[in-house]
Amino acid sequence: LDEFLSIREFEDAARRILPIAVYEYVAGGAGDEITAADNVAAFARYRLRPRVMVDVSEVDTGTRLLGEPAALPVGLAPCGWQRFLHPEAELATARAAGAGNAPLCVSTASTCTLEEVAAAYHDAGGAVAWFQLYVNKNRALVEHLVRRAASAGYRAIVVTADLPVTGYRERELRHVLELGDGFEPANFRAFTPHRSPLELMEGFTDPSLTWSDLAWIRETSGLPVVVKGLLTAEDAHLAVEHGAAGVVVSNHGGRQLDRSPAAVDVLEEIVNAVKGRAEVYLDGGVRRGTDVLIALGLGARAVFVGRPYLWGLAAGGERGVGRVLTILNTEISN
Ligand code: FNR
Repeated sequence: LDEFLSIREFEDAARRILPIAVYEYVAGGAGDEITAADNVAAFARYRLRPRVMVDVSEVDTGTRLLGEPAALPVGLAPCGWQRFLHPEAELATARAAGAGNAPLCVSTASTCTLEEVAAAYHDAGGAVAWFQLYVNKNRALVEHLVRRAASAGYRAIVVTADLPVTGYRERELRHVLELGDGFEPANFRAFTPHRSPLELMEGFTDPSLTWSDLAWIRETSGLPVVVKGLLTAEDAHLAVEHGAAGVVVSNHGGRQLDRSPAAVDVLEEIVNAVKGRAEVYLDGGVRRGTDVLIALGLGARAVFVGRPYLWGLAAGGERGVGRVLTILNTEISN
């Protein structure tokens, strides 16, 4: 692991290690994967405007998210089903994120319980843990999840807004992942008559979810709400009007609506619409420290990465995720 110098090397290693269906599940996007590829390509079109003769003898990569301190402006995006990648699953991710005090957003579709993941993260020293919510049609289940998240010490509920239905992902349809022993969704075990993550999520989210549901989530959880998965100024205004404390500019890593814009290409539009009324974050396509700096330069408070740490988890569990975070931190500092 210490020989890996860039995120790309982790993906190469993960591709060699993982069963094809797991690799395709992580790497794939919706439709022709135009948006998935564009997330990365768009970052490559931006250039930094360097200033010189500035005292850089001390460099601090720390920031704050919703008032809580984080050691670096790169968090771990919510990604489900991590036991497919490594037996220690979300616990390995949480320990590595906690040790580096990187923000951690835990998925509804975690294969460890949200309580176990929070404890692993906080015990390792992490401060910014958020719980990502897929809103189920059964609001009693949603209420149960967000109340548990609040008691477990999560500091915000991240409502994923871009999955009213699951994206049309051909790689997943061709290589179906089977849920089996130990692979069930730990947060809602009683609820799993389905076969694959794809089928499970298809039936899981409520396609009738609208902005008017946000207030209920905020009141029920007693936590600030962050809306993940918007790409327009119009929706940014609506999120703020409906009380969001933060928004994640995201197209779900290109896994949902193909032909939606690259996240970084609409970041400035959303920062201008929000006008400081909420924190703005971005995910999608971040593969280098310079990508992080570009997003911060365009007005993001922090960014999140998905696939980069999943490749780290596949390649080396907790140490692999830790190495990915170290590389990003080194690149940002540099
Ligand atoms: C995701 N993503 C995701 N998002 C979410 O809100 N809940 C979830 O359970 C998942 N699960 C998930 C699984 C896998 C395998 C991937 C790759 C992604 C989307 C994720 O949070 C994030 O938006 C993207 O991964 C960001 O893009 P990059 O960093 O992967 O390019």
